[in-house]
Amino acid sequence: MPPSLGRAGNGGVAVKLISSRCDLQHVPDSYVLPPESRPGKEEFVLCENIPVIDLERDRAENVRQVLKAGQEFGFFQLTNHGVSKTLMTDVLEVAEGFFELPIEDKASVYSEDPKRSCRLYTSIDYDKEKVHFWRDSLRHPCHPVDEHVQSWPEKPVRYRELAGKYSVEVRKLSMLLLELIGEGLGLEPGFFERDELNRVQLMALNCYPRCPNPSLTLGLPRHRDVNLITVLLQGPVLGLQVLEDGQWLALQPLPGAFVINIGLALQIISNGSLRSAEHRVMTNRTLARMTVTTFIHPSGDCMVEPAKGITKNHNPPLYRSFLYKDFLSTYIVDTYEGEPPLKRYTL
Ligand code: OGA
Ligand code: NI
Repeated sequence: MPPSLGRAGNGGVAVKLISSRCDLQHVPDSYVLPPESRPGKEEFVLCENIPVIDLERDRAENVRQVLKAGQEFGFFQLTNHGVSKTLMTDVLEVAEGFFELPIEDKASVYSEDPKRSCRLYTSIDYDKEKVHFWRDSLRHPCHPVDEHVQSWPEKPVRYRELAGKYSVEVRKLSMLLLELIGEGLGLEPGFFERDELNRVQLMALNCYPRCPNPSLTLGLPRHRDVNLITVLLQGPVLGLQVLEDGQWLALQPLPGAFVINIGLALQIISNGSLRSAEHRVMTNRTLARMTVTTFIHPSGDCMVEPAKGITKNHNPPLYRSFLYKDFLSTYIVDTYEGEPPLKRYTL
């Protein structure tokens, strides 16, 4: 534990971490959203349209389906994706185990410094935000595993082993999806294999504890992911909602499936052909929800722009070129100010 975190330090962290406050009977005022951003009602309307794609078909069919789902919804679920079911279950279990650790263990990983590569934090930016979100998150880089594993939590005991295996498997799947998308968009083979375009892989364990009144809170506010592509592993509890034609629709958890979501960087590279959809996370009155997300990002110095292979002839670029690190910082500022994240980049 860092020397600065004595008993009082742990106490502070214990109050901030929502996963350490399971005994709450009421939503504390600091988690009550203003009326216009509250979900308002607790029930979920299930989304029937978001496709479930079985990857065990021929390649041409996979290309067609993945592209279509990315264009129409920006979200899809994936079965027969090649990642072992046992590994998926084990990773969700070890993630739950992490949030059940004693506060001393969690406090040793807790940090409010966004520059720290591996850290546990709560909500989004606890000290700056007016209202907190009902989520704790452990986040760290994971590619290549050898370069980062030493920074990961040592507890639970199997954490490093399982997170390492899982990161490698999910990377293979993410690269396959990018390959299928590249093919569908008509890009040159190997387009997404450029190291700087896919170098950063972040893994996040999200814990959304039970909430006494889900109509007043959110686990995560409405947002679009900033990166290329996100692979989400969710347990059996409902919570993720996608905005479709002005309606919030819940994504049904399917055992053994991944939820895949197109990020803004990929929307830009595809020159708007693929869509990055808005989504949010509702809390649940009776059950805690656990998710493990993997984000594939370009490196900070990567120049991101609509792919030249797409923007010829009758398809002029809709977005200007930028350094990914600049995009990341404006994304955060604009998100705080309620500005659309692509406004500055749209031509
Ligand atoms: C995210 C996200 C959804 C979830 O981390 O960006 O949208 O269900 N997560 O945890
Ligand atoms: Ni998201």
